[in-house]
Amino acid sequence: MIPQNCPCPNADCPRHRDCNACLAHHEGNGYCKRSSIIYTKEISGITEDMLSGFFVGWPNPPSPAVHLKILQNSYRAIVAIDTEINKVVGFINAVSDGVLTAYIPLLEVVESHQGKRIGSWLLRLMLKECKDLYMVDICHDEKLVPYYAKFEPTGQSHSTIFRNYDAQSGRMDV
Ligand SMILES: CC(C)(COP(=O)(O)OP(=O)(O)OC[C@H]1O[C@@H](n2cnc3c(N)ncnc32)[C@H](O)[C@@H]1OP(=O)(O)O)[C@@H](O)C(=O)NCCC(=O)NCCS
Repeated sequence: MIPQNCPCPNADCPRHRDCNACLAHHEGNGYCKRSSIIYTKEISGITEDMLSGFFVGWPNPPSPAVHLKILQNSYRAIVAIDTEINKVVGFINAVSDGVLTAYIPLLEVVESHQGKRIGSWLLRLMLKECKDLYMVDICHDEKLVPYYAKFEPTGQSHSTIFRNYDAQSGRMDV
């Protein structure tokens, strides 16, 4: 049976959309471990030295310590870890009131691992985490409209953004 909400974007996996086989194979967690990439929302095991190669193009990026704090302080955060190198190679986070709304501020896959469905996998897992909330919003560049369209959004809207560039690297007093 194929569940309607199957989050697995890995069409190459022999267990793709066969969630019962997937759950049995992966001892109950249902996350595909066929490759060296694992996905987890357990942030407690993540350390600063596992976080590098993110915030590409940011003039004043958050440090790994601030990045870790962002993950820890989020409503939900999910990371993709390449177990062969013990590094986080992708992450997504959501901030939320926990009742009605969630906002997904950050989704990034390190350049060496882009194009391998990791971003899609992270987003699908996060949408599943937020499935009981009414509003789940992402603000993104125009060029990413086709990317997010694949996840069947219920609508697209203009957004207005406010940025304090002096604080781009994040608060250090939290
Ligand atoms: C956008 C991003 C998260 C996608 O992650 P990824 O793991 O590389 O993407 P996937 O392998 O899941 O891509 C799936 C599909 O999206 C397409 N895609 C990926 N990045 C895209 C981009 N920047 N623009 C348009 N399409 C893109 C891929 O070509 C692929 O298309 P296909 O289904 O036709 O083969 C990643 O490229 C990234 O980190 N970019 C820099 C940071 C960023 O822009 N984050 C989004 C902030 S809102």
